[in-house]
Amino acid sequence: MKILLVNGPNLKLLGLREPAIYGSETLEQIVTNVCEYAATKGVQITAFQSDAEAELVATIGAARGQYDGIIINPAAYTHTSVALRDAISACGVPTVEVHLSNTHKREAFRHVSLTAPVCVGQIMGFGGKGYLLAIDALIK
Ligand code: DQA
Repeated sequence: MKILLVNGPNLKLLGLREPAIYGSETLEQIVTNVCEYAATKGVQITAFQSDAEAELVATIGAARGQYDGIIINPAAYTHTSVALRDAISACGVPTVEVHLSNTHKREAFRHVSLTAPVCVGQIMGFGGKGYLLAIDALIK
């Protein structure tokens, strides 16, 4: 099984960025944990991070036929990007949306996800552990 792990804008700053909200783990540590966990389940991970909406759209657009699942934290684009929503919908690959924080406990503009309705499910509020839960969800 092959899973594409996609992280959106500002997530490369994890560890430094608002640690009270996002924790102290870096993206590199999270990706390492995801790859190690996935390997125990016989799953191969390809990890991609970009701040650029167009790159995220292009990467998801190229996923059809290449991956069995996508795990995505669209970060701020969750709340703004029709293009990302359409890319997820169009690619035909089962996608799980992950957020480190519980966005429902935060500002009102974070309560809406444009991308969640085209995903098979959403996991939030469990920090980096959420990505591991998403692997289990996709395996099931
Ligand atoms: C986030 C939540 C978003 O609202 C925010 O813009 C992020 C990170 C999260 O993982 O909690 O950048 O996706």
